[in-house]
Amino acid sequence: MKVSTRKGLLLPLLAIVLFISQTQPLATAAKDSRPAYTNFVKTKCNVTTYPSLCLKTLTPYASSVKINSTKLCIVALNVAIKGARDASVIVSNLKKQKGISRYEAAAIRDCIEDVNDGVYELKLAVEAMGHLGDKDKEFQLSNAKMYASAVITDADSCTDGFNDRKVNPKVKDVINRSMAVIIRLGSNALSLINHLYDY
Ligand SMILES: *[C@@H]1O[C@H](CO)[C@@H](O)[C@H](O)[C@H]1NC(C)=O
Ligand SMILES: *[C@@H]1O[C@H](CO)[C@@H](O)[C@H](O)[C@H]1NC(C)=O
Ligand SMILES: *[C@@H]1O[C@H](CO)[C@@H](O)[C@H](O)[C@H]1NC(C)=O
Repeated sequence: MKVSTRKGLLLPLLAIVLFISQTQPLATAAKDSRPAYTNFVKTKCNVTTYPSLCLKTLTPYASSVKINSTKLCIVALNVAIKGARDASVIVSNLKKQKGISRYEAAAIRDCIEDVNDGVYELKLAVEAMGHLGDKDKEFQLSNAKMYASAVITDADSCTDGFNDRKVNPKVKDVINRSMAVIIRLGSNALSLINHLYDY
């Protein structure tokens, strides 16, 4: 319950911040600060497993993140949630294709479940990152790491479900690519959390 309320709050907030930053792209203050905020994202992304993907996905949020490492992690987790949801749609659409065997359909169903678990864990990671100001901050931080790494395990477990010669290579390929997106976005979010206090 708690999770959905927080997220329900966060996304509209993010949207508003983005809207404002887009409607006033060259306000006087932004002129000087924009490159600085982009540099912050660059420096942070440098520690991630997939730096160019990190830059591409997180630079659009630079002006709302400013130089807040916690916020950058939360944005990265939300980007991973969106990526996982998109992947879930792609995997679901596979089920509707002609020539899908019963075995493949079952693997697809398991995969969707894995991805949904992943989305849930990413939301818990966002929740934990929002509690770093609490007394149990170490506990919250280790939870955030645990949940962010759990999503990688889930995506791997989906891919493993198709590592069987009974599966059409085309289906395998779609699964691999979709899971790769989740794994990369999840790994990047995890790296950022692991390096939260670097600067
Ligand atoms: C990224 O890391 C490399 C090696 O650690 C370093 O040489 C480079 O200056 C860093 N770049 C940024 C933008 O921090
Ligand atoms: C950074 O962002 C987090 C999450 O939005 C917030 O709780 C925290 O107060 C911010 N820190 C600073 C120094 O603004
Ligand atoms: C999918 O990925 C797995 C492991 O990463 C690999 O063994 C397999 O060959 C890949 N399948 C395809 C069709 O790319």
